[in-house]
Amino acid sequence: MIALVHRVIFCALVCASSLRAACPSGCECSEAAQTVKCVSKDLREVPSGIPGYTRNLFIMGNQISRIGPESFKGLENVTNLSLSNNRITEVESQTFFALRSLRSLDLSSNQLALIHPEAFAVPSGLLHDLNLSRSLYNHSSVVDLATALRWGGLRGLLRLDLSGNRLVLLPLGMFSPLPGLQRLLLGNNSLVAVHNGTFAGLERLEELDLTHNSFKTFQEEALQELERLPRAQLLLGDNPYVCACGIEDFAAWLNGSRARVGDAERVACASPPELRNASLRGLGERALGCHGDGAGEGADLALQTSYVFLGVVLGFVGVVFLFVLYLNRKGIKKWVTDSRDACRDVLEGYHYRYEIDSDPRLAQVSTSGDL
Ligand SMILES: *[C@@H]1O[C@H](CO)[C@@H](O)[C@H](O)[C@H]1NC(C)=O
Ligand SMILES: *[C@@H]1O[C@H](CO)[C@@H](O)[C@H](O)[C@H]1NC(C)=O
Ligand SMILES: *[C@@H]1O[C@H](CO)[C@@H](O)[C@H](O)[C@H]1NC(C)=O
Ligand SMILES: *[C@@H]1O[C@H](CO)[C@@H](O)[C@H](O)[C@H]1NC(C)=O
Ligand SMILES: *[C@@H]1O[C@H](CO)[C@@H](O)[C@H](O)[C@H]1NC(C)=O
Ligand SMILES: *[C@@H]1O[C@H](CO)[C@@H](O)[C@H](O)[C@H]1NC(C)=O
Ligand SMILES: *[C@@H]1O[C@H](CO)[C@@H](O)[C@H](O)[C@H]1NC(C)=O
Ligand SMILES: *[C@@H]1O[C@H](CO)[C@@H](O)[C@H](O)[C@H]1NC(C)=O
Repeated sequence: MIALVHRVIFCALVCASSLRAACPSGCECSEAAQTVKCVSKDLREVPSGIPGYTRNLFIMGNQISRIGPESFKGLENVTNLSLSNNRITEVESQTFFALRSLRSLDLSSNQLALIHPEAFAVPSGLLHDLNLSRSLYNHSSVVDLATALRWGGLRGLLRLDLSGNRLVLLPLGMFSPLPGLQRLLLGNNSLVAVHNGTFAGLERLEELDLTHNSFKTFQEEALQELERLPRAQLLLGDNPYVCACGIEDFAAWLNGSRARVGDAERVACASPPELRNASLRGLGERALGCHGDGAGEGADLALQTSYVFLGVVLGFVGVVFLFVLYLNRKGIKKWVTDSRDACRDVLEGYHYRYEIDSDPRLAQVSTSGDL
């Protein structure tokens, strides 16, 4: 009897300790919810011993700097993985390969500088959501990212968040390995242009967010590219649109495709100052100053410019003239002295003659001489 009690107590202890061991330190595990959370615990790497039942794994707000295939061994049931707000700079090849059920991967708010070509390779092709918001170290990382998307086998990806990455340009065809993409978030970057091929292969796109970028206009090429996304609702607001002649095509296109631009009322001029905040949609051609009155103003401006130019040239000539005078000052002084002397000689000559002519004695002499 006593032996049995001992055995039960022993078993209870062992079971309790094995249960405790089933949750890594720094984490909270809930078998019922199939969820493990290791949040803001200064972890430097992905903890080992995460239970196999885990479906939702949150390892957020830690100090993890590198992840690789060994980080997630045996976690075949994880469907949602968040690693946001860490310091991840490197994602090795096939890091997520063991996560056979992975649907949603959140790497937002990291500093990815080294993304290996097969970093996002997932065998199942089941990954639906990839959040890379504010996760690239700098805009050069987008080249690595484009390669990783190509080698990732991400044909099943539905939603991609690339907002807040200071992206300046997107490699052409970058999204073509993602033919199933429905939602592409590129807001809060520094994009300036869309080219032929920027969104190639995104026939299924339903939402494209380009707000809070650096677009000053969308040129003909860009508008054609956007037209090739027949089903997508576009968000284009909060860009520094310059309401001058170059924006005519875009304004007209906007007017004709109101339904597709979800935030048309936010598509407004940032400059010139007199048009700031004016909705681009309601802006007529005259307001843009490309024809009619606008052209007159242009001509006036050209005339003013030419007057200014003339003034500058004349001023310059004057300065050069003065400078030449200054350089030649000795010669000029000599010339002035010479001419003064010459004048004096001549004048003295006259004076002499006059004196001779007016002296009566001399007159007599001359008269007598004449005789
Ligand atoms: C994953 O879940 C299935 C079904 O719930 C289970 O049979 C399997 O043991 C789990 N895998 C691991 C590694 O625990
Ligand atoms: C898991 O990800 C899916 C999207 O793939 C999402 O709808 C769901 O809410 C996520 N679950 C948890 C617990 O975060
Ligand atoms: C991606 O992560 C950021 C930051 O964690 C979050 O604000 C954003 O809503 C996420 N994007 C999607 C599409 O869920
Ligand atoms: C981005 O970071 C990498 C790695 O630190 C560096 O080599 C590169 O020059 C940076 N690029 C830019 C545009 O700052
Ligand atoms: C845009 O991104 C920057 C840095 O990535 C962030 O500080 C800022 O809050 C973001 N702004 C918006 C409107 O999302
Ligand atoms: C865009 O590129 C495709 C192939 O890359 C080409 O066939 C097409 O003519 C180009 N369109 C324009 C307007 O340049
Ligand atoms: C422009 O409009 C926004 C809201 O639509 C407002 O907050 C802002 O003050 C306006 N700016 C100017 C210069 O009128
Ligand atoms: C917008 O379109 C309407 C007809 O659809 C047209 O009457 C109007 O002049 C257009 N406005 C501009 C600024 O192009």
